[in-house]
Amino acid sequence: MDSRLRGNDKVGFGNVTDIPKKNVPPVETLLQSIHHGSPDRVNEAFAQWLAANNEAIATTTSLQDLESIRVANTGKSGAVTLLLKTLGGMSPEERQTKGPAIHALREAVMAALAERKAALEASALDARLATERLDMTLPVSAGRQGSIHPVSQVMDELAEIFADLGFAVATGPEIEDDWHNFTALNIPETHPARAMHDTFYFPDDKAADGKKMLLRTHTSPVQIRTMMNEPPPIRIIAPGRVYRSDSDATHTPMFHQIEGLVIDRDIHMGHLKWTLETFLKAFFERDDIVLRLRPSYFPFTEPSAEVDVGYTREKGRRVIGGSEGWMEVLGCGMVHPRVIANCGLDPNEWQGFAFGTGVDRLAMLKYGMDDLRAFFDGDLRWLKHYGFRALDVPTLSAGIGA
Ligand code: DAH
Repeated sequence: MDSRLRGNDKVGFGNVTDIPKKNVPPVETLLQSIHHGSPDRVNEAFAQWLAANNEAIATTTSLQDLESIRVANTGKSGAVTLLLKTLGGMSPEERQTKGPAIHALREAVMAALAERKAALEASALDARLATERLDMTLPVSAGRQGSIHPVSQVMDELAEIFADLGFAVATGPEIEDDWHNFTALNIPETHPARAMHDTFYFPDDKAADGKKMLLRTHTSPVQIRTMMNEPPPIRIIAPGRVYRSDSDATHTPMFHQIEGLVIDRDIHMGHLKWTLETFLKAFFERDDIVLRLRPSYFPFTEPSAEVDVGYTREKGRRVIGGSEGWMEVLGCGMVHPRVIANCGLDPNEWQGFAFGTGVDRLAMLKYGMDDLRAFFDGDLRWLKHYGFRALDVPTLSAGIGA
């Protein structure tokens, strides 16, 4: 059918879009009824057109077809639009009699279009849901995946082992004040760690006592913060970054430590030794771990000990376990009464043990890396080789070493 409006130059509507393939009367029948017909004639023409148009809408089978009808109805040259335009050329009286019919027609068309659109969309969704299936049993595709850094892995392993022994994880700031890092820990003014060449100080940033802020040199200040902030009994580990002005194959300016602290009424060195032995057996996943406690000195513990772990040689490599030789792995001792008092606790009532060790060093011993600097180079080949799969979370039951 020719889709042009014939005649009616008076209004000059230009192109009219017809409704595809349906028996909807041409729009000029409506326009003629408006211009020349009685109200009855208008109603009759409108009702006829609307019935056919509704039928066309109701029988569309695709959103695309529905969209062509919408354009033919309410588009720029659509039937409804053309009818609305006639209102402008009417006298007020005529508009009063014919206007309501035009508006009612428009409402009816819009409602029919919206209803059919919702129905078609719903059935399109149903059809998609019926054909699309997710097979949850398919293996995960081996796309590019990151890996867990050995330091993070070892920290997770330590947290898991100590959680099983009833320890919570505590944290503290990496930018620390002199009091928490040194003074409260009974570290004397003359201690080398206080010197500029060993510790990174912030020259312009001072604490309330006028002393320079610094990058913490160990995780021991977390002991102080914990004892000051929570009442005993205390059982915590504190893993984290520490900083020293040091750099060679076994020292980097930033490295990782883990601190342990237990404070209660009757804690003694037997508890300390058992805890360390249990921890190292779980960590290295061997029962033949042998420890040697050597008397030592730390300002914050009394008595103090350094702990060696025994190793054996297998094919020229040192392997933890047995007692052919010894490797130092951590420092420990009974918390100095002065440190306990510095935190506001009565050392006659509370006592306990503390220990500290390098996380990076534990990782090297367990997983066999020999250059500490590679830990922080960010070389993807190294990370791929030594890293851990993200989903292999260490657990005591499934194997702590993933
Ligand atoms: N803070 C010590 C260091 O950085 C390590 C250490 C030794 C921590 C003995 C302790 C301890 O808690 O008891 O070298």
